[in-house]
Amino acid sequence: TEHSSESAKSSMGIPLADAIEQSKRLAAYQAVDNHVLPEHKVIGIGSGSTVPYVVERIIAQGKEVNKGRVFIPTGFQSKQLIVDGGLTLGDVDQYPTIDVTIDGADEVDHALNCVKGGGACHLREKVLAEAAITFVLVADHRKNVQYLGTNFAQGVPIEVVPFAYAKVLQNLHHALGSPKATLRMAVKKAGPVVSDNGNFIIDAPFGREHMNDPYTIMARIKMLTGVVEVGLFCKMARAAYFGNADGSVTIRW
Ligand code: 5RP
Repeated sequence: TEHSSESAKSSMGIPLADAIEQSKRLAAYQAVDNHVLPEHKVIGIGSGSTVPYVVERIIAQGKEVNKGRVFIPTGFQSKQLIVDGGLTLGDVDQYPTIDVTIDGADEVDHALNCVKGGGACHLREKVLAEAAITFVLVADHRKNVQYLGTNFAQGVPIEVVPFAYAKVLQNLHHALGSPKATLRMAVKKAGPVVSDNGNFIIDAPFGREHMNDPYTIMARIKMLTGVVEVGLFCKMARAAYFGNADGSVTIRW
C-alpha cells in the first residue's frame, strides 16, 4: 500500500514520501491560484502538513499584494507559518468575516463533507471555516474517498472539556455506537493530548451506517454534555483540491 515502505515508488517513479509531498504541494498551489485573489484582504490559514504549501504560494504572490492583507491562524502551527512568512497576523475575533480560508483534511467524501482534527485543531478550524465566505480544502489523493472512515480509521476527532471526558467516552461507547472510541494520548503515552484550547481529544470510529450520514452523527455527538466541537465538517467546503500521484489535480466542488 501507499504507507508500506520507504523504498516504494509512485506511478511517476518518485519515492512515495516525496510523491505525497508533491501531491500536497500541487493541490495547495492550485487552490491558492484559483481562490486567493488580489481583492481578498482577510485570509484564514488552516493546519497540518499541506498548509505550509498554501502559505508558500501566497508569499509568492508578492509583498505588494500581501502587505494589504491580514492572515488568521487556526492554531499554533499556522500562527508560526504566518509570522515566519512575514505576513500580518490577525484573529477571528477582530475579523469574524474572512474572504477565504484554505485548510487540509483527514478525509473528504463525495459530498465534500470532511473529517478534520487529526492535528487536534478542529475547533478553531471550524470557526474559521464558518467565518469564511469561501472555504477550500487541500489534500493529497489518499484523502479523496467516497465515504468518510474509508482510509482514516482512527475515527472522528472530538474535543472535550477535560473533566467530562470519561462521561463522553461512556456515551460514545454505549449510546452512540462507537465502542472503540479512545482518549488521544501523546507520544509514548506521556498523558492526554491537550488542544490549543486546553481540552482533550477523543477519537471515535463509526461504521458506514453512521458515516453515510455524517451530519446526523455530528449533531448527536455535539449534543453530549462536555463536547466542545466535533471534527466533522458537513457541507462547509466550496471546493476540494486533491493532488494526484501522476502530477494532476482533482478538483471537486
Ligand atoms: C488538523 C487538521 C489537518 O488539516 C488535517 O489533519 C490534515 O492534515 P495534513 O495536511 O497533514 O494531512 O484537521 O486538525
